Amino acid sequence: MSRPTSPPKTYRVKSFGCQMNVYDGERMAELLGEQGITPAPEGEEADLVVLNTCHIREKAAEKVYSDIGRLRREDGTSPLIAVAGCVAQAEGEEIMKRAPAVSMVVGPQAYHRLPGMIAEAVEGRRAVDTDMPAETKFDTLPARRKVGPSAFLTVQEGCDKFCTYCVVPYTRGAEVSRPFADLVEEAKRLVDAGARELTLLGQNVNAWRDADGRGLERLIEALAVIPGLARIRYTTSHPNDMTDGLIAAHRDIPQLMPFLHLPVQAGNDRVLKAMNRSHTAASYLHVLDQVRAARPDIALSGDFIVGFPGETEAEFADTLRLVEQVGYAQCFSFKYSARPGTPAATMEGQVPTAVMDERLQRLQAALQRSSLAFNQATVGQRCAVLVERTGRHPGQWLGKSPWLQSVHFTGEAAIGDLVEVELTEAGPNSLSARIIAA
Ligand code: SAH
Ligand code: SF4
Ligand code: F3S
Repeated sequence: MSRPTSPPKTYRVKSFGCQMNVYDGERMAELLGEQGITPAPEGEEADLVVLNTCHIREKAAEKVYSDIGRLRREDGTSPLIAVAGCVAQAEGEEIMKRAPAVSMVVGPQAYHRLPGMIAEAVEGRRAVDTDMPAETKFDTLPARRKVGPSAFLTVQEGCDKFCTYCVVPYTRGAEVSRPFADLVEEAKRLVDAGARELTLLGQNVNAWRDADGRGLERLIEALAVIPGLARIRYTTSHPNDMTDGLIAAHRDIPQLMPFLHLPVQAGNDRVLKAMNRSHTAASYLHVLDQVRAARPDIALSGDFIVGFPGETEAEFADTLRLVEQVGYAQCFSFKYSARPGTPAATMEGQVPTAVMDERLQRLQAALQRSSLAFNQATVGQRCAVLVERTGRHPGQWLGKSPWLQSVHFTGEAAIGDLVEVELTEAGPNSLSARIIAA
C-alpha cells in the first residue's frame, strides 16, 4: 500500500452524525486553512480527505470503511486519509489494521493536533491520537472567519449519563463545559463573521455550568445582548437537566427561539429504566408542561428508539401514546442498534429486525401526522424567517421560522435577512409563505 508522501495542497472534510461533528468539521477546515491547505474545488479530488465519523449506530460506523474504499483510485493509490470523529475514538488502532490506506486516526478531543500528524504522515509515519488531553482543543483553534447566517457554537461536550444503549460517553468522554468568557468571545466573533443565529451545542447542552455554577440560561442571557445576534437555540438537552431557570428563559428572553429538542427515547417506564434514562414518562411530560406554561407556542422535538432489548408490543404502544399526548413538531426515530461495549448489547430479548422495522414504520407514521398537525396549526401566523439559502425555483428563498420549520417563499430577499412573512400552506416537512409588505 503506497500512501502519499508530499504535503497536501487541498483538503475535503466530510462530516457525518450530529451537529457537534458539523461544528468540529468546520473547525478542522479552519485549522487546515491556517496551514495553507485550501478546500478542494467541487467535483475535484482532494489531496487530503478527513472523514469525520459517527459511531452512534452500526450502519453509521461501518460506513467509514466503504467510504475509504471509494477513495481508492484506479491505480490503487489514495489521497492522504485522516479518520476523525467518534469511530476514530472508538476503534483507534483497529482502523489502521482494517484500512491500510488510512494515514491518521484522530479522536474528537485531539483534532487540534492534525497539522503535526499530517507532517508525520507525509514522512511515512502513520499516527493514532485518541487522547483526551487536559489542554483543550478550543484553546488552540484558529479564529473564525466567515460563517453563514446560522452558526453552531459548541458550549459543552461529553456525557456522564451512560444510557445503556449509547456510545457517546465513551467516544466523547465526560461532561465538560467551556468557560463563560471564552463562549461570549467566540459568539461575538461568529456574529462579526456573519452569524445572525447561534445554536449552542452540547451532547447534554442543558448540563452546561461554568466554574461559578451559572447555568445555561445565564449564558443565553449574556449572548442575547450581542448586537446583531437575533436568534439563539440550543441542542441537545436531557430531561433531567431542564432547570427552572432555563425554562424561565423561554419566557423571558425574546432572542431564545420557541423550540426545544428534548429526547425521551421511549414511553414506557420499564424500558426507560432499562435504558438508564433516569426519567419516567410522567416526569418527562411534567417537564414539558412547565415548558409550555413558560412559552405556550413552543415547538417540541424528540428522539426515539424502537426495539430496545425486551421491548414488548404493549410497551411500544406506550411510546405511541406518548407521541399522541405531546404533539411533537418534529422528531428523529431509530431502530435500536446494538453497540459493542454498551450494557444493552448483551441484554436478553434482542428484538428481531422485522419487528423493529414494523414498529418504526408505525412510529414514523404517527410522528409524521403530528408534524403535519403542528405545521397546519401555524398556517395564518405571521413570523420572521431567517433566510439561509436560495430555493429551487427562480426568486425562491429557504429559511427557518422561529419554530425551526423550513419555510420557502418568493420575493425580494437576501441570505441572512429576517423577512416578515405569513405562513400560507403546510406539509409535514415544510411550509410556504408570502412576504408581508414592510
Ligand atoms: N445527547 C443526546 C443525543 C445522543 S445521540 C441525547 O441524549 O439525546 C442521538 C440519538 O441517537 C439519541 O437520542 C438516540 O435516540 C439515538 N441513539 C443513541 N444510541 C443508539 C443506539 N444504540 N441505537 C439506536 N439509536 C441510538
Ligand atoms: Fe447518549 Fe444518553 Fe448521553 Fe444522550 S444522554 S449522549 S443518549 S448516554
Ligand atoms: Fe455520532 Fe459521535 Fe455525534 S457518535 S451522533 S458523531 S457524538
